Amino acid sequence: MARKLRILRASDLNDTLDMREVVPLIEQAFVERGLGRTEMPPKSYLHFPSHDGVLLIMPGNLPQMDEAAVKLINVHTRNPTDHGLPTLISTIVLISPDTGEPVCIMDGTYVTGMRTGAVSGVATKLLARSDSRVLGIVGAGFQGPFQFHAIRHCMQVERLLVTDLVPERARQLAHMAETFGIPAQACETIEEVVKGCDVLVTATPSDRPIVRDEWVHEGMHINCVGTYARGKQEVDPAILKRSIVVVDDWTQASHAGEINVPVSRGEFDRSGVYAELPAIAAGLTPGRTDDRDITVFDTTGLAIQDVVTAWKVFEVAERENLGSLIEPLYT
Ligand SMILES: NC(=O)c1ccc[n+]([C@@H]2O[C@H](COP(=O)([O-])OP(=O)(O)OC[C@H]3O[C@@H](n4cnc5c(N)ncnc54)[C@H](O)[C@@H]3O)[C@@H](O)[C@H]2O)c1
Repeated sequence: MARKLRILRASDLNDTLDMREVVPLIEQAFVERGLGRTEMPPKSYLHFPSHDGVLLIMPGNLPQMDEAAVKLINVHTRNPTDHGLPTLISTIVLISPDTGEPVCIMDGTYVTGMRTGAVSGVATKLLARSDSRVLGIVGAGFQGPFQFHAIRHCMQVERLLVTDLVPERARQLAHMAETFGIPAQACETIEEVVKGCDVLVTATPSDRPIVRDEWVHEGMHINCVGTYARGKQEVDPAILKRSIVVVDDWTQASHAGEINVPVSRGEFDRSGVYAELPAIAAGLTPGRTDDRDITVFDTTGLAIQDVVTAWKVFEVAERENLGSLIEPLYT
């Protein structure tokens, strides 16, 4: 019998999930990928140069979990000024693997925040030194709280150092951490954060290296989150040269991740990558083996992460009757 289609707007979704349940889900999605049990064609792009826009299409299928979805994300840089709309608009369509029906259409912003945070949490768990205590965050925008919450469930965070070009944002994130009992300091410089932390997150849209090689010390772990497109980078490529570099997916990372600029200049290639995180999550490759190593995780975001997180949101929405239901589109 035809199923009604659930519509979930952004305002229906806030706080639907607990980060403690998303981290293991994301880890499981990495395991599935590591074991070769996912289907995830490369991201496709449609370009709208006359509108300064691009659309990314991200399909993913996890047969073992019986979950599939397609995420659409547009990046239209003139939206805020010309149309009063956000630069990024993201929509996820959940597909029933059983019948092929779309069962839910949801705004993708919340899912992207939760899954991106959880990915850093999983990478921190698998790659950071076990005695890491100080978390550093550079870039305290939308991602900041998700990164903080995920990582505090994956390492024993005793202190947060945070900085942002807009100091008020760093102060707000520091204040939020303190409400969770974690002493926090909004720092004036990136140098202070990098030198003082054990685990670093970079979550800015920077297109030049903002983390210098000489600030990075032995034993650190760095989650490079911000670089999502060709030509962008956040850390000095010299850091990559002396680190254990792990990517979420070589193809995506070499085109659009932290390594894309050095790869395009011929200064870095696949031989510089230690492993893909799915192989480590699946136990096929060891994670950190030496406390003195610097580990760098380059994440570009995988469709399968959106799939598992969005289906968890849908499960809650079904249970709590969130959003609205419409008649199937195809009848
Ligand atoms: N890897 C992934 O899967 C993934 C997922 C989502 C977002 N992203 C990327 O992560 C980045 C952050 O996303 P967001 O949604 O939090 O964006 P945002 O715009 O909400 O926040 C970015 C923050 O970085 C700050 N910033 C910019 N340049 C800085 C600098 N040089 N030093 C310090 N702070 C600086 C800004 O002031 C802002 O507060 C974006 O580039 C986004 O595309 C990546």
